[in-house]
Amino acid sequence: MYSKAETRFITTNLITIIALFILILAGGVVRSSGSGMGCPDWPKCFDQYIPPTDVSQLPIGYQTKYVAQRVKKNEKFASLLSKIGYTDLATKIRNDESIKIPEEFNATKTYTEYINRLIGAITGIFLLLTCYLSKTYIKKQPKIFWYSLFNLVLVVFQAWLGSIVVSTNLLAWVITLHILVALLILAVSIYTYYSAKFKSLDNVAGIPLKMGVKLLAVFSLLITIFQITLGTHVRETVDYVVTTFPALTRNHWVAQIGESLNYHRDLAVLILILNAGLYLLVLQNVKRNSKIIKYLNITLILIVLQMLVGGVLSYLSLPPMAQALHILLASLLFGAQFYLVLLLMQKPFINYTLA
Ligand code: HEM
Repeated sequence: MYSKAETRFITTNLITIIALFILILAGGVVRSSGSGMGCPDWPKCFDQYIPPTDVSQLPIGYQTKYVAQRVKKNEKFASLLSKIGYTDLATKIRNDESIKIPEEFNATKTYTEYINRLIGAITGIFLLLTCYLSKTYIKKQPKIFWYSLFNLVLVVFQAWLGSIVVSTNLLAWVITLHILVALLILAVSIYTYYSAKFKSLDNVAGIPLKMGVKLLAVFSLLITIFQITLGTHVRETVDYVVTTFPALTRNHWVAQIGESLNYHRDLAVLILILNAGLYLLVLQNVKRNSKIIKYLNITLILIVLQMLVGGVLSYLSLPPMAQALHILLASLLFGAQFYLVLLLMQKPFINYTLA
């Protein structure tokens, strides 16, 4: 069914997708353990490829050196923001005294961030490999090649954003953008995988699904994306509470979040209702053992799990493990819903028991 080169591409693309999920989890662990500044420079860590394990191995005067580097980098970023009209934000970054406070060395945090970067580098290599192997499609399905190439551009942008996240001391909106770009990279990878995997079934006749069902699937996906953005806003509020009221203990953080957490919780219920509705509608047209039903099941399970973890976060004072799991589940949910939309959109509609 697939040539050797195609099989190689499909397998590598699938590994890349798995690596992206692992990377998102690693990013969640870094955030929940507060290890983002574990490596004060980028891409190296304390100027070394393998970071130090003890304070005695640190370069002399490292604190002043990295603060100076960070100030220089932020100045560059601020002038870029000024040029595109964001002068207020540029001034805020320039006047942010907090970035001048050097981080104390903590080997656990340094290695947490370092492992995250290693997983990032491995994922980058897989994305590069996927792009290289996509050359087999240049003539027959050029979009697979172009999308794979586009993903590399996105990754370079994402790496640059990562460096800004570090130098601006985890500036809130940059983190949100960082998460959204991660989802975009994931979506492109899933799309190329899907396009390569289903090409030979293109002409299999099937039952056409009503337009309303497809629109409902797209709408549910958009609501999930909105929910993820709202979730990052909730998270930013938590970060703000933590830094602004250092005397508050962990069990008081959630109470300070305010309205956005209520909207976030209620939207989760809407997402569950939308997807349950979609399930019932699809069930009328598609066999129970089809691929579409499988992904709808996965989506519903992920939503329920996500709501449970959300409850744990809200009522058990934000346990770090649950924080990391919540962001992983959010990306898995996005991935499952996006794949589902692709399956539902295919023309002519396929008998998915084959796929
Ligand atoms: C479909 C359902 C949901 C999705 C897709 C979702 C997604 C997200 C995302 C992406 C974040 C940001 C995580 C980060 O930046 O590290 C977040 C944060 C959060 N969510 Fe949800 N969420 C859902 C349901 C819920 C529910 C039902 C609750 C419970 C009320 C909840 C409570 C929270 C809390 C407390 C945070 C802040 C966590 C922190 O500071 O680490 N979520 N959510």
